Amino acid sequence: MKFPAEPFKIKVVERIRTTTRETRERLLKEAGYNIFNIPAEAIYVDLLTDSGTAAMSDNQWAGLMIGDESYAGSRNFYHLEDTVRDLTGYQFVIPTHQGRVAENLLFSTICQPGHIIPNNTHFDTTRANVKANNAHAMDLPIAEALRPEIEHPFKGNMNVAALENLLRTDRDKVPMVTCTVTNNSAGGQPVSMENIRAISEVCKRWSVPFFFDCARYAENAYFIRQREPGYKEKSVKEIAREMFSYADGCWMSAKKDALVNIGGFLAMNDEDLATRLKQKLILIEGFPTYGGLAGRDLEAVARGLLEGLDEDYLHYRTAQVKYLGDSLDRGGVPLVKPIGGHAVFIDGRRFAPHIPQERFPAQALVVAMYREAGIRGVEIGSLMFAEEDPETGEIRYPGLELVRLAIPRRVYTTMHVHYVAESILKIYREREKMRGLRIVYEAPVLRHFTCRMEEI
Ligand SMILES: Cc1ncc(COP(=O)(O)O)c(C=O)c1O
Repeated sequence: MKFPAEPFKIKVVERIRTTTRETRERLLKEAGYNIFNIPAEAIYVDLLTDSGTAAMSDNQWAGLMIGDESYAGSRNFYHLEDTVRDLTGYQFVIPTHQGRVAENLLFSTICQPGHIIPNNTHFDTTRANVKANNAHAMDLPIAEALRPEIEHPFKGNMNVAALENLLRTDRDKVPMVTCTVTNNSAGGQPVSMENIRAISEVCKRWSVPFFFDCARYAENAYFIRQREPGYKEKSVKEIAREMFSYADGCWMSAKKDALVNIGGFLAMNDEDLATRLKQKLILIEGFPTYGGLAGRDLEAVARGLLEGLDEDYLHYRTAQVKYLGDSLDRGGVPLVKPIGGHAVFIDGRRFAPHIPQERFPAQALVVAMYREAGIRGVEIGSLMFAEEDPETGEIRYPGLELVRLAIPRRVYTTMHVHYVAESILKIYREREKMRGLRIVYEAPVLRHFTCRMEEI
């Protein structure tokens, strides 16, 4: 099946509205050209994030009806526990209401000031939670990950030689090695089994625990099956199990590959660590059999974890993202290559070379997409990351100015995706019309969420 046809039929629909260009123009002005300030109801195709935006199945909705809302010992917790144990092989399962709480619990427990947490690339909440505990979040991606135009089947891999060097010099400062699958911050790129095995061997040699940030573990396993020699005949579940077998534990934002709108968990084999985490969990999330979630949510996660491994679903999922990427690529739109698992990333600087970096070319494309077609994407470039050098006062710009088009799971049909591709191709053909932006208000931290701009 080469064509990304949906492996489901639609039983319930949610209306989305088209708006007029005049309305979108007015909303853009009112929003200060900041797409976070646009009401979701005024958006036709919303590609802001793939997190917590999935459509649940009839099976998951049915699961909500058997939610057991007991404070302690809910049957849905035991179902989730069994499912996670079966999938990962880890014995101790701790629910949380989303991924960053799992990160908060883990890093506040294992990190001391001066510690280093290596990762292929930390996701931003992971980095923030490591930093909040006065530790250093060290990214060790392979060199290819930093070059958007280069094709590599496993661009999410970790630089294992750099990991080994780090442990040789600073073993005492590293309480845990982590690996993000797929590597979200490097463009949703997968990590190969060979790389996972190599990380695991290094960790064993230096006796360091190894944990996955496994928000998109199923997409990663599917890419291994498609791209890595020796895995064609294995099921995605078998591949996922093998991945987990090389590590000592994991945490997951279930809002991705578990196809739910809220949820997360930690899982591990270290009983002592699990006990310490559960004590903190009671303080900030709740009793260890619900961890900040309703019983019905636990049930939806348990069912979603298995649905996320369905091979027809994974084929459609990855093929739909690739369909968008390939359509744009054929029209000459500059992209991060290869196309990742959950999103397409457009290179804003090459898209609009007439807009200098200090005038936010990627954000200019975000604005153009909404103005032209009611589509919402997100800038991952200077608006998000440029910062002032505290010593010289000079602005340090990030290497890439990207627009991320993250595709929610099972939400949009391939015709919606086709509409997105056609709209962006039209903007590309008329790209000289795009205008740069200047900031007129910004907050001292995380300015991209609340800043206001005007067009130049
Ligand atoms: C790789 C990765 N880790 C952690 C998180 C944080 O999860 P949450 O948004 O559920 O707190 C995300 C969310 O996007 C993610 O992509």
